[in-house]
Order: sequence, then C-alpha cells, then structure tokens
Amino acid sequence: MTKSELQEKFRNRFNKEPTHFFFCPGRVNLIGEHIDYNGGKVMPCAISLGTYLVVAKNTDKMLRFQCLNFPETAELHLQSSYSKTGKEWFNYPLGAIHQLLQNDHVISGLDMLFYGDLPIGAGLSSSASIEVLTAFAVSELFQLNITNTDLALLGKKVENEFIGLNSGIMDQFAVAMGRHDKAILLNCDTLEYEYLPFEIGNYVLAVINSNKQRELADSKYNERFAECGAALKLLKKEISATHLCDIDIETFRMHRHLVNDDKLEKRALHVITENERVKEAKETLKSGDLKKFGELMYASHQSLQDLYEVSGKELDTIVEFCKDYENCIGARMTGAGFGGCAIALVKRDSFDDFAAKLIIYYKERIGYEPEVFASVIGDGVKEL
Ligand code: GLA
Repeated sequence: MTKSELQEKFRNRFNKEPTHFFFCPGRVNLIGEHIDYNGGKVMPCAISLGTYLVVAKNTDKMLRFQCLNFPETAELHLQSSYSKTGKEWFNYPLGAIHQLLQNDHVISGLDMLFYGDLPIGAGLSSSASIEVLTAFAVSELFQLNITNTDLALLGKKVENEFIGLNSGIMDQFAVAMGRHDKAILLNCDTLEYEYLPFEIGNYVLAVINSNKQRELADSKYNERFAECGAALKLLKKEISATHLCDIDIETFRMHRHLVNDDKLEKRALHVITENERVKEAKETLKSGDLKKFGELMYASHQSLQDLYEVSGKELDTIVEFCKDYENCIGARMTGAGFGGCAIALVKRDSFDDFAAKLIIYYKERIGYEPEVFASVIGDGVKEL
C-alpha cells in the first residue's frame, strides 16, 4: 500500500490529515532458535514486509486504535496505565504505550491507523513489529529520545508483562536494529551485537509460510521456557551457570546425568548445540561458505524437530522437500515454530521452479497450499 493510499484511509476514518508515517519490519531468524531466552546467540535479520503506522496527535486526550487488517477498534481515555483486555490486536500497541507511561513519559492523545503486509501470527514477528513501531513512533512524536536498543527492551516487556508470553529479546531487537543485507549476531545475555554480511550471491532467501494456524502456540512456548528453567536448575547443582547457553557441550555431556528426565535433557541438548551452531554459522558467513551455512540450517531444524519438539508435520514437510531439491542448500523452521514459517536458501534462477514444485508437494501431503516468496533483507524501524 502506498503512502498516499494510507493517508486517504486515515483521512476517511478520522476526518483529518495524518502528520507522520512510520514503518517497522518483521524478521526471520537465520539460525539460533529458542535460545534467546536462554542467554544464547541468535542471528535474525529484518525483512521488507512489516507494519505501517499513520498517525496524528489529538487534543481530546483519547488513544484511538484502528487497523486496516482487523475490524476491531479501540478508543480509550488517556490514563496513566492500562491492562490487556481480550485477545484483540490493539493490545500490542496499547501495551507499548502502557510501558512508555510506566517510564513516566508524557504524551497526548493519538489517532492511529495501522496496516501490516506481514502474514499475521505466522512467525515473522508481527507482534514485535507493531510493539516496536508504536514505541518508536511515540518516541519520535514526543521527542522521548529512546534508543533503539531500549525500544527493543520495552517491546520485550510488553510481551512478558502485558501480553504474558515469556519470549526473549530477539524479535524486538531484530526489527528495531535491522540493516539492509545484514544479519545481526546478537548475544542475548549481554545485548552485544555485530552485523554480519548476508551476501548470498546467486541464492535467494525463500520464506515459506506453512499457513498452519498456530493453536496453543503461546502456552507451548511458555512450557518450553519453563522446561529450560527446570533443566538449568538441575544442572546448577554442579555447574555454575546463569543461563543454559553458558554451558558448553563437553560440560553438558559430563553432567547430563543431573537432568534425570528425558524431556528436559532433550530440551537442554537442543539449546546447547544450537548455541554452538550459531557460532559456527558466524564463521561460515564471514568466509562466504554458504554450503556449510545451509548444512547448519538443516541441523538446526532437525534439533528443533527431535529434541525441542516445536516443529510439526507442516514445517517438517517443507524441510523434507528442500533436502531433496537439488538447488536448495539449506532450510529450517524460523521463529517459535508450532506452524508459522520456514526459510530456505535456493539458487536464484531455480526459485520459480522451487516454489511451484514445493506448493504441489506440500498440498498433496498437507491438504492446502503454503505461500512461498523470496525475501529481501531490509532496515529496522524508521519514519517514512
Ligand atoms: C519467538 C519469540 C522469540 C524467540 C523465538 C524462538 O519468536 O518471540 O523471542 O524465542 O520465538 O527462537
């Protein structure tokens, strides 16, 4: 949707002109899954799809939330704090405003129109996108001078405290800090980060939306979070560590008997090996060894499938197809899992053939079609 189309929609809904336009991308995670809340290193990048906000201040002390993707709207008096009501989309931007107010920032009323071209709830961080977008926009409109790292931390608080999901920092950090053609290597413990070249030459990064509804994803996510905490607690009887990712694989092997529960042992093994894979992946990107990077993607998926058990037959079917497709060198689920999206590295001139064949393969086995598109690695949140 163009800026002038958004402007017109705003005008029709609010009977006035918008003053500012903002955009925040979604993200894919190249590797390092389910380790951000275990103090690990992750490697996300921002994509070109995302969420738009068209906005104007008002003088009647109202927060008005409208969205072109959903019929539900909200209109609330400006007050010092809010709490989540129901499951509607506007809880995410409302949570961001709530957090800003909790930090004693003073704002006025706002008329807000949102629009997203990201598939919603498909594991491309539509929620982080709208949270960071709202916080960034408010920070710009009221000159709050909040750094992008702090915006990411604020977005995480929205998830953890307002929405009730124990997610890590990866998504909010990626959408706040993304850079064109760069992967972000983020240490989720210290928040140290570096940009790595994501130069894939004659390959493209394919994003495949399984179109599987992510039922119960939030409760399963919180369950994994709790399982990691339980495994860490057992290991801490003999190992000094703050996070599971502080433990290397050798140390884990020597002490795995402490985790006297099969399921917890599998969860810990995924986390610890995935953290090692990210370190290796960094070297492959630096040296331009894309083939090796692709192998690490497949290994990551296998671990998420067998040990962490967050994949599912839809995502596994996609990765199974990729493994047999000659011009695909790596694939894996991305994001929380339980449905959502997979990513794959595919030779550029085979992309159309890859997409067409994958759609048929998937439909035959799953009963409906996935969406397949080639993604551009874009910038983080910005004013348009
Ligand atoms: C979701 C969470 C992230 C991260 C991923 C899994 O996207 O929001 O914090 O844990 O799942 O890697």
